[in-house]
Amino acid sequence: NTKLIIAIDGYSSCGKSTVAKDLAKLLNIVFIDSGAMYRCVTLYALQNGIIKNGIIDEDLLIEALHHIQISFKFDAQSKTNQTYLNGKLVENEIRGPEVSDNVSQISAIAFVRKKMVELQQAMGQTQSIVMDGRDIGTVVFPHADLKLFMTASPEIRAQRRFKEYQEKKQNIPFEEVLKNVEKRDHMDETREESPLKRADDALVLDNSELTKQEQLDFIVDQLRVRK
Ligand code: C5P
Repeated sequence: NTKLIIAIDGYSSCGKSTVAKDLAKLLNIVFIDSGAMYRCVTLYALQNGIIKNGIIDEDLLIEALHHIQISFKFDAQSKTNQTYLNGKLVENEIRGPEVSDNVSQISAIAFVRKKMVELQQAMGQTQSIVMDGRDIGTVVFPHADLKLFMTASPEIRAQRRFKEYQEKKQNIPFEEVLKNVEKRDHMDETREESPLKRADDALVLDNSELTKQEQLDFIVDQLRVRK
């Protein structure tokens, strides 16, 4: 069995996806951003009036899950996966402040998680995969070959997200970005359903002071040791 499953969990905006993408490229395996899936559900809920002013109509949401089709397509130009919701490219939209503000509430709902976890497990069924999220090492792939738990200080994480918004010409005050990061972490850690938690066998990677290359080297070393 040469199938390789790598689970990367951790706090929001700590560069999980960046490392996961690089790693997938290096190993030539598939990368899946599980957060993008919760973001798609949230976008759909916002677009269809299922969540309004932070209040979710759960009956409508259960029904909506039957109409939500999430897919990833490899984009040759950016050399990474892009997210599609019902056939429409939503990669940028799902990263916007409105979705970011509501996603932790949507992802706390048990039936939403159940559906997403099923889809995620199916993706790891037949292929090697690097998946990043909050519950990948604890719930989605408890038998992953390598589990990482990434973290960095909230200020550093907010700074990175702030820069990303600026690069996209979205002017969101730093204070607001920091507040969103802290609020999401808190909700993700304290929710009842699959809270963000380091799996007992996950390696901690605090990247506050590490370059991308240093993080990658660390992971590749760990993979070597495990072989
Ligand atoms: O990873 P990202 O920050 O894009 O995830 C957005 C949100 O989706 C998280 O704040 C969390 O509420 C939720 N999420 C989750 N479980 C995952 C991935 C993301 O609950 N596996």
